Order: sequence, then structure tokens, then C-alpha cells
Amino acid sequence: MEETLSIIKPDAMERNLEDEIKKVFIKNNFQIVKEKKVKLEKKDAEQFYKVHETKPFYNDLCNYLSSGPVLVMVLKKDNAIADNRKLMGSTNPKEAEAGTIRKEYGISIDKNSVHGSDSIENAQKEINFFFKD
Ligand code: CMP
Repeated sequence: MEETLSIIKPDAMERNLEDEIKKVFIKNNFQIVKEKKVKLEKKDAEQFYKVHETKPFYNDLCNYLSSGPVLVMVLKKDNAIADNRKLMGSTNPKEAEAGTIRKEYGISIDKNSVHGSDSIENAQKEINFFFKD
């Protein structure tokens, strides 16, 4: 079994989609093994998204992730990282396939409702970032 980090972002939290999106994960055979609701400071968001620090959208991205509460979860299943990315759909909701979370709920490339780890290495880093034992 593999673990990945998932975040339900402020745009989805603000529209009360938390339970609906959790149900999508459960229906797709993910176990939610850890979860917590947090409100990040901008410096936390900057650290979390450090891999994007040279990108032109970095500052807006960090402002956005720290703009309201988020739900962070550790999701577990076989092939969790790739399966979660498939279930989320393309980063830009306008390009996401029908039935994916971002197609269903995303508003824009910034307000795309969910984040998911993109590799084994980043999944471990991201899980440790939020859930240090
Ligand atoms: P996420 O999977 O959380 O990882 C980084 C985020 O940056 C991404 O989702 C998008 O919401 C956001 N973002 C904003 N602009 C872009 C862009 N041009 N390319 C990729 N990601 C972007």
C-alpha cells in the first residue's frame, strides 16, 4: 500500500465541499488514514510549495493556499499517488477529464479545489510537513 498527501483547498472548503470530496476518495477505494483542518500562515504555504518558488505564480499560489482553512489528508491504497492524480484530473479544471474532481469542482487553475503529491519522494516530504509523529 502507498500513501499520498491530499489537500482540499480554500475554494472547495469555502463552498462546503469537504464531505462531498472525501466521499469521492472513499468511493474510489482510498482510505483516509489521517486528516486535519488547518489554516496555514503564508510562510507555511511558501515552505510547502517551495518546489515552485521560481515560478511566476508562486506568490499568488502561497497567498491563496493561506487565504482560508484547508483539509489535509493522508490517503492510502495501492498506487495511491498516481491513482489520486488521475482522480483529481489536470491541474487546469478546463482541461480536466469528465468525472475528475477538478472538472467537477474546480473553478480555475488557481482555485482547482485539490492538491495531490506528484511522486513518492514528494508524498513523503508533504506527509511529514503536516503530520510529524
Ligand atoms: P497544485 O497541484 O496544488 O500544485 C501547484 C499549484 O499551482 C497548482 O495546483 C495550481 O493550482 C497552481 N498554479 C497556478 N498557475 C499554474 C500554472 N501556470 N501551472 C501549474 N500550476 C499552476
